[in-house]
Amino acid sequence: MALWGGRFEEGLNKRAYIFNESLSRDKRLYKEDIEGSIAHAEMLKKQNIITANEADNIVKALNQILLDIENKKIEIKDAEDIHSFVEAELVKRIGTDGKRLHTARSRNDQVALDMKLYTRKRLDESIILIEKLIDTFNIQKEKYKTVIMPGFTHLQKAQPITLGLYFGAFVEMFERDKSRLTDTRKRLNECPLGSGALAGSDYDIDREFVSTKLLFDKPTNNTMDSVSDRDYLAEYLFDLSLIMTHLSRLAEEMIIFNTNDYQYITISDKFSTGSSIMPQKKNPDIFELIRGKSASSIASSQAMLTLLKALPLAYDKDLQEDKRISFEVIDDVNFCIEMAEANIKEITWNEKRLLDACKGGFIDATDFSDYLVKKGVAFRDAHKMVGELVLLCEKENKVLSELTLDEINKICEGKVEIDIYDSISLEACVKARRLV
Ligand code: ARG
Repeated sequence: MALWGGRFEEGLNKRAYIFNESLSRDKRLYKEDIEGSIAHAEMLKKQNIITANEADNIVKALNQILLDIENKKIEIKDAEDIHSFVEAELVKRIGTDGKRLHTARSRNDQVALDMKLYTRKRLDESIILIEKLIDTFNIQKEKYKTVIMPGFTHLQKAQPITLGLYFGAFVEMFERDKSRLTDTRKRLNECPLGSGALAGSDYDIDREFVSTKLLFDKPTNNTMDSVSDRDYLAEYLFDLSLIMTHLSRLAEEMIIFNTNDYQYITISDKFSTGSSIMPQKKNPDIFELIRGKSASSIASSQAMLTLLKALPLAYDKDLQEDKRISFEVIDDVNFCIEMAEANIKEITWNEKRLLDACKGGFIDATDFSDYLVKKGVAFRDAHKMVGELVLLCEKENKVLSELTLDEINKICEGKVEIDIYDSISLEACVKARRLV
């Protein structure tokens, strides 16, 4: 039974019914819908809008419906959306009392509330997952703080760094992600219930009561904005898309580091799969999927903004698409954070290979220039001299530390002494900087 039959003479076209329904997606909001309805019924009772007896019957039946759904005693089906389903079930169980629940409420403020409660719950999960990820990266940062590896720019070897510094970079990214989520939560936490269809309610409702009961900071201010606001969802989806951007960068690099050519890391068997034809293959699928899933996450953030950008005030049915845009992506992103954390913990870092990799690519050239600067050469001249030394090495197939003092000083105008060899050792290059 639809919630709106009275003014219609004909039923909805069968295909249009399927086109219009949202139950297949919004059934996952059953808990939030019931929680919101219980708070609403208690408020109606407190304000004497319905009798205590009616309200108690409603609350009792709603609690039972929740239990029956969770214990799979009833199946959520045969309704336009979750709000219609819960109400129909309530009326089926308690008759006319059930029909009083929707007093001073519209599906517009109801769905606005359900979506906020649901988003808040999933956002809290994201925060916990990100915190765990940060902890794991901090542990790796500490564990590998003295392990030397090449640092890259343009994917070309640049300067020696520590693996600790590398992990620390991701700690910063994830800390920013956490602070963005926390910030989004603050703005989200205002209760829209009581806004009605768009113009509030002429009953003597108590919005503070409902807001406190549902753990919001306060009721929203403007009723028109409340029923059409999905900014918090757009923000959350953006926060998630930036998390996925970070995870995708991480995944990409782990995939490269895991290749036969690099062999910087070995990804655990627990997070790899094989090939059906090539027996030797061990593929980094979990990281590849994290990189791949970032696509729909980024797209969802765009889709949400596009949904809102030409929406007339107040509620329009376009908003029903917010569920299609967000639900699966939220599931995926939270799963990705969990997988990235679990996967990273099990990686074996090939420390010898990382050190050997520092030996090519003139990774000590900047330190060589700095040595010359300390000997009084202007930086720009030092840069040119070392550039020429690199060219010489390339022609003679050598590294800088293999050049003799004579060869060096021919280019460096006698400024270089025997201590150069210690000064450009990897250990010295790393020690010279605060690599944390
Ligand atoms: N299923 C709808 C949605 O998700 C619920 C609100 C319907 N409101 C309305 N006025 N038709 O947005």
